[in-house]
Amino acid sequence: MSISFSDEVNEELITTTASLPEDSNEGSLRPRTINEYIGQEKAKDNLKVFIDAAKMRGESLDHVLLHGPPGLGKTTLAAVIANEMGVNMRITSGPAIEKPGDLVAMLTNLNEGDILFVDEIHRLNRAYEEILYPAMEDYAIDIILGKGPSANSLHLDLPHFTLIGATTRSGQLTAPLRDRFGVSLRLELYTPEELQRIVIRSAGILGVEILPEGAYEIASRSRGTPRIANRMLRRVRDFAQVRADGLITREVADEALSRLEVDKLGLDALDRRMLRSIIEFYNGGPVGLETLAATINEEAVTLEDVYEPYLLQRGFLTRTPRGRCVTRKAYEHLGIQYMGQQQMDI
Ligand code: ADE
Repeated sequence: MSISFSDEVNEELITTTASLPEDSNEGSLRPRTINEYIGQEKAKDNLKVFIDAAKMRGESLDHVLLHGPPGLGKTTLAAVIANEMGVNMRITSGPAIEKPGDLVAMLTNLNEGDILFVDEIHRLNRAYEEILYPAMEDYAIDIILGKGPSANSLHLDLPHFTLIGATTRSGQLTAPLRDRFGVSLRLELYTPEELQRIVIRSAGILGVEILPEGAYEIASRSRGTPRIANRMLRRVRDFAQVRADGLITREVADEALSRLEVDKLGLDALDRRMLRSIIEFYNGGPVGLETLAATINEEAVTLEDVYEPYLLQRGFLTRTPRGRCVTRKAYEHLGIQYMGQQQMDI
């Protein structure tokens, strides 16, 4: 039997931060307690204090806004908070709330102390946000029944709940909504060392044999994102099983990931296309985001939310008031001769 490794996978998708069907066992890899949760030390330190204080007072936790790039574990962290507080969590998302009744039903079904997790909260219909204001502030909602002069308003008390909102774009939240979150935590891209620990932990859960250098190779190529690291681990495991008796060494990880067109620093084909376009069409920049998006036929929000954070973190790209510029490091990484600073506005 011959097995063709590269034909079986969709090479475009390995580095997406979106959740894919193949990530369906992600749940088993998720940490359940704050001590199991690796990385995000600043956010965790703050959360520990708020959780302990709320528990000592016997109160519900203040409302929490989690923001940062996709795939960094906002839902996971919310579930960890629920677990640490010993309460249940209900999950919904901004776009899933199609009518005011959907939100009212979610709120009135909560029990004392419960967490309501609203993913992509920036996509919640603005008109429905107003239901959340008294709900968050006074644990109450006012429902208008009927229309015109005979309309009546019904005041409903809610249990003391905690709203955890997650967003990749906190700038798109309205100020009144943002101001009602007592705690606002920014999640950062993970360091390769943190991702190495996550990969080793996940390998242990999946029963995969891996050497520390193998885990580091995966970690340093997964764009600072645990979801990508765990996905790469599964793909590399398949490769290791077929080609290397199941053990993931540095060489095995390198070969598998190179076949998936993820380069040594974790850049995928689209990253390279983006950097190359700035160099070839705009002389290294500056170029406006919308112009760049049109040039490479991608959505501007995708470039901004998904691609840029990693390119900025690794120093391949800078943001200037006049647009995006590539750095000398990007030229070097792509093997293109760097012509000097004069064309770059940094
Ligand atoms: N799996 C995914 N994210 C994780 C994290 N932050 N810590 C531990 N395991 C994880």
